[in-house]
Amino acid sequence: MDDAAPAPDIEQRVRDLDPWFHNLDLAGVRTAPDHFLGDYPNFKWQRFRHLVPERLDGLSVLDIGCNAGFYSLEMKRRGAERVVGIDSDPRYLAQARLAAEIAGLEIEFVQMSVYDVGALQERFDFVIFMGVLYHLRHPLLALDLLYETVVGGDMLFQSMLRGSAAVPEVAADYPFEETAIFEREGYPRMVFVEQNYSGDPTNWWIPNRAGMEAMLRSSGFCIVGATDDEVYLCRRGERGFMVEPPPPIETSRA
Ligand SMILES: C[S@@+](CC[C@H](N)C(=O)[O-])C[C@H]1O[C@@H](n2cnc3c(N)ncnc32)[C@H](O)[C@@H]1O
Repeated sequence: MDDAAPAPDIEQRVRDLDPWFHNLDLAGVRTAPDHFLGDYPNFKWQRFRHLVPERLDGLSVLDIGCNAGFYSLEMKRRGAERVVGIDSDPRYLAQARLAAEIAGLEIEFVQMSVYDVGALQERFDFVIFMGVLYHLRHPLLALDLLYETVVGGDMLFQSMLRGSAAVPEVAADYPFEETAIFEREGYPRMVFVEQNYSGDPTNWWIPNRAGMEAMLRSSGFCIVGATDDEVYLCRRGERGFMVEPPPPIETSRA
């Protein structure tokens, strides 16, 4: 047998888990050779990898919506001590486990929804939240939960964005009579997709750039790095709003 040819059992194990969304190279076997985006997500990663520290030695990483584990594998290769990948889809987690096994990397993959991250009871040094927000019916709830429970330091974030890429200054308040502001280019917006976008019924909410940045800030994240398209490096900061506890309810007994 040709030394460069992949082992037939790896080819079979990869094909048993078809179809793949991440096009990984597993010991010479391409997991999604006909991917509509080509070498995905590697070609995207090459555009923003400079946002992530070259070395993550001693750090813990949580990869939310990890899919077949491309970013989990990269973080482990950068020396992260502990990497946990979560995804709601067990089929993707089976792919991620196979990828880690073939790469010889120790990564924990757990079936869990982003809404349940509090159950991990751990803050991570580095959180990855890429390509998930627009698939959620409750995107702000997810960002608030991440801030409250698992983000201990930085968060690498990406969302699909549509509409204007302008990010104009927005005043802290406007009078009730001011309505033209809502038509202004770049006013923070998020559109709701009732049915499908790009053939995908799980594309629910798609913000414009100003809307995405406003939501990140509002949930307590400072934007410390960004690409010119959709990727942000965020840092846990102060919340942009305060939730006052309601006054105690007066009770009376008859
Ligand atoms: C577009 S893929 C992004 C995968 C990967 N993070 C990336 O950027 O290439 C979205 C992933 O999020 C997962 N996902 C969707 N809803 C989720 C939820 N509520 N909790 C956790 N994962 C979710 C999907 O199963 C899928 O693997």
